Amino acid sequence: AGKPGIVKPLPAELFTVRDTNAETNWAALRGTGYHTPVDRFFVRNHTSTPVLDPARWRLTVWGGGLRGRPVEFSYDDLRSLPAVTSSACLECAGNGRSYYGSQQGDRVTGTPWTLGAVGAARWRGARLSDVLRAAGLSRRAVDVMPRGLDPAYTAGGTDYGHVRRPLPVAKALDDVLLAYEMNGRPLLPDHGCPARLVVPSWVGIASVKWVGDIEVSDRPLFSPWNTVFYRLFGSAYPPGGSAPLTRQPVRSAFEAAPGAAFAAGRGHRLTGRSWSGGGGVRRVEVSTDDGASWREARLHDAPRPGGWVRWSTHWHPREPGPARLMARATDTSGATQPLRSVPNDQGFFFDAVVRHPVRVV
Ligand code: MTE
Repeated sequence: AGKPGIVKPLPAELFTVRDTNAETNWAALRGTGYHTPVDRFFVRNHTSTPVLDPARWRLTVWGGGLRGRPVEFSYDDLRSLPAVTSSACLECAGNGRSYYGSQQGDRVTGTPWTLGAVGAARWRGARLSDVLRAAGLSRRAVDVMPRGLDPAYTAGGTDYGHVRRPLPVAKALDDVLLAYEMNGRPLLPDHGCPARLVVPSWVGIASVKWVGDIEVSDRPLFSPWNTVFYRLFGSAYPPGGSAPLTRQPVRSAFEAAPGAAFAAGRGHRLTGRSWSGGGGVRRVEVSTDDGASWREARLHDAPRPGGWVRWSTHWHPREPGPARLMARATDTSGATQPLRSVPNDQGFFFDAVVRHPVRVV
């Protein structure tokens, strides 16, 4: 068994482990394909992973946004709906949070991720729209709220109840899956077995795991996950915080460990990936001289909404000593990573260029 809260093994070379969460080690992605292998895919749990039996699992869809009574689906019912396969990144809104402190000197709260709270997978499941229509979706519906079967979340003496996060019906009917497979295999317990939402381009909290029921409402829904958490709070924002977070920002990471050694006087191939919830990534620039000059990296994937691009560039360091690698992506909407992120109290949406420390030896 792994650390508390996680069931899958967490080999030290694949993960940086932090209590109930596990962060992908970017160096372990080098040489892997487009999709993150499940054995190194990050895990983000508010509490701990429940191990549920698909044969006994039921999904109840209910609420004033349906034409009739609640409807129950078994695992077989879900699998008998038309199956869709789709590639999408999943990323925590707090990915990169530790850089607010280490790079900018800002004080923020939350899991101190570096950049490993992101992964891309091939998801297979039913369209949420097909599930909702099979349950008798009414035209009055405005919000749907999936709820997880993991233990209720308690923090600072407050019981917030089960993880549940409202989703506007327009997004629910667009590209959202109720997935039961990840990279060609049934979901592992840590990733939501028997079924989870996959909400492409949006903050990871929208992709509720271990879904037990979905409320469909004819009025806006609220939960701590769109009021207390997953908004931007702080001096740059209104007193009630920003609107609930939806699309992820633009980010980039090198497939290298912090402090990795590169031999001086030799050529090296630097590789990495960039992604954005605002559309596909169309350009990546790399700097190895603290931002004095930038060169365009070669992209190995076409820009695709909800996906990432792999890229590479060449580096020929001359002098031994410390160095910093920087990558800056631009998405198809024109958004480019800034050199500094505007801080918020809970440390979400760190989108600035990360200064990745390495050594030339
Ligand atoms: N769903 C439930 N029920 N409980 C959770 O704690 N965490 C969310 C989301 N869905 C969570 C959840 C968050 S914050 C993220 S980033 C993703 O799941 C992580 O998915 P993964 O663990 O499969 O990588």
